[in-house]
Amino acid sequence: MSAVAYGEFLRGLISNPRGVSAPTPSSPTLSRIIAGQVDPGVDGLVVELGPGTGVVTQALLERGIASHRLILIEQTESFARLLRGRFPAVRVHQGDALDFERFLPQGAPVAAIVSGLPLLQFPLADRQSLLRRALECQEHGGRFVQLSYSWRPPVPPGSGMNLSKTPVWRNFPPAHVWNYTAPVPR
Ligand SMILES: C[S@@+](CC[C@H](N)C(=O)[O-])C[C@H]1O[C@@H](n2cnc3c(N)ncnc32)[C@H](O)[C@@H]1O
Repeated sequence: MSAVAYGEFLRGLISNPRGVSAPTPSSPTLSRIIAGQVDPGVDGLVVELGPGTGVVTQALLERGIASHRLILIEQTESFARLLRGRFPAVRVHQGDALDFERFLPQGAPVAAIVSGLPLLQFPLADRQSLLRRALECQEHGGRFVQLSYSWRPPVPPGSGMNLSKTPVWRNFPPAHVWNYTAPVPR
């Protein structure tokens, strides 16, 4: 990571320490593993919650998700500004990702939701509500991919959903990518 990019991350961390809650952005390895959980062949929007400086966004683009399919929801103002400059063709909204539905175009299908939010900072009821709504808004069976530094799942999986995890050692601190999926509705 360049010194300039790390400086931008540190500025965001200082302005919103509890919201950012990480010493560095995700490493390229971690970003690629997160993006690798998204199937570019599934139609619809890919929504990224808490994109920070855009390292996972970049990996999603490299994975083959076209710019017009991406929607980013970022609370920290300096990160939202940075993301708009870095990805001019991507829709960037500054706001609360817990309320993600209000940033989605009405009726647009969603293919996957990817989150770098510091979920463990939120009350359990908010986490459970976010996961449930994130899966329910998807038509093709839901996919919610969550980055976490904890060894425990950030949300206990509910009935009717599956959970898998990928540990990622090549990151500081070591992380887990939690992949929640729900079956295709009949
Ligand atoms: C741990 S950083 C992850 C950044 C990036 N995804 C990465 O992997 O490096 C958490 C990000 O979530 C954002 N964030 C925290 N709470 C949020 C909320 N309620 N709505 C939107 N973004 C939020 C922070 O501003 C920060 O950019």
